[in-house]
Amino acid sequence: IIHPVILCGGSGTRLWPLSRKSFPKQFTPILDGRSLFQATAARLNGPGEGLDFAAPVVVTNAMFRFVVTEQLVGEGIDPGAILIEPEGRNTAPAICAAALFLSRTDPDALMLVAPSDHLIPDDRALRSAVAEGVPSALSGHLTLFGIRPTRPETGYGYLELAAAAEGPTPLRRFVEKPDAETAARLIDDGQHLWNAGIFLFRASDILAAFETHAPEVLAAVREAVEQAEVDLGFLRLAPEPWSRAPDISVDYAVMERSAGLHVVPYDSDWSDLGGWDAIWSVLDKDAAGNAISNHATAIDCTDTLLRSESQDVELVGIGLSDMIAVAMNDAVLVAPMDRAQEVKDAVAALKAKG
Ligand code: GDD
Ligand code: MG
Repeated sequence: IIHPVILCGGSGTRLWPLSRKSFPKQFTPILDGRSLFQATAARLNGPGEGLDFAAPVVVTNAMFRFVVTEQLVGEGIDPGAILIEPEGRNTAPAICAAALFLSRTDPDALMLVAPSDHLIPDDRALRSAVAEGVPSALSGHLTLFGIRPTRPETGYGYLELAAAAEGPTPLRRFVEKPDAETAARLIDDGQHLWNAGIFLFRASDILAAFETHAPEVLAAVREAVEQAEVDLGFLRLAPEPWSRAPDISVDYAVMERSAGLHVVPYDSDWSDLGGWDAIWSVLDKDAAGNAISNHATAIDCTDTLLRSESQDVELVGIGLSDMIAVAMNDAVLVAPMDRAQEVKDAVAALKAKG
């Protein structure tokens, strides 16, 4: 049995104004009627493809605890355990807390750590890849999933293979978020895959890796779990020790520093929906390449995203090409498609304005 550990702490600022700090992208219905978080939980639920999943362990912020419960119940999924972080300290403390929590009942619990905000259309392909990784994880390897790179993206981790990848393959090196020049070099040599951000390991193995590579994270999080309070079925991590956990991602804290990692290549569609350009590319489009929502109208437009999130706002584009326009009741974004990544700077600017 595998324990899904779903990370829901991020705020997804690149999808402003739809994704907000108060309601981040993983909980909004971006593509169909359900949220990415719900799709993630459903993908990792119950038996199938030779796997069986336990009820999920969700690690999130206090603000989202009821959204999490409600959305799981909406999918008919047992809410399992919900670990509440007093504040976001990034993925290393979040994963460490889940491992300590699971190891109380089974030190060798097999955990599949998944981001809650990715688009993975083929659930069966993902589950098959996880099944392929199980023997590696059971023999003590921290196991990752690798995507064939298509561009020199600087927002991802890169996995350098020790051999051609067919099935689980040892990793030579993990490079988190290289600069543009390094990324270009890494994709050129054909020996690198992107890190999908999905991890499979036993609780005992990841805790041993924390002990070796990030003992400060382990020490603080251990206290926060030991002193946690059970509150309406939620496990509230203790604020004081938690605040002492370094704010660091698991990629920097553990993966870059570990030897003996394994990777399973994943060949089906995968997107981290890291901007409006990525959303446009996965939406249904008309013959001119426009993705148009309800309450939006495109006249003589090409390759444009026109999206109204409000019944009260009619959005009309005339003569636009390669543009993004997203309208909410209280905010509107208009930008060229190739500047979609700058939305996060806009959010920072708005925040500074107060
Ligand atoms: N509970 C909790 N607490 N979850 C968090 C926190 C936190 O403090 N911070 C981030 N998360 C969640 C996010 O919501 C997301 O689902 C997941 O953890 C990954 O965090 P991101 O912040 O989105 O990481 P990233 O995109 O910069 O990089 C990671 O993902 C890439 C693939 O999309 C890395 O693993 C890269 O190596 C990888 O290529
Ligand atoms: Mg991400």
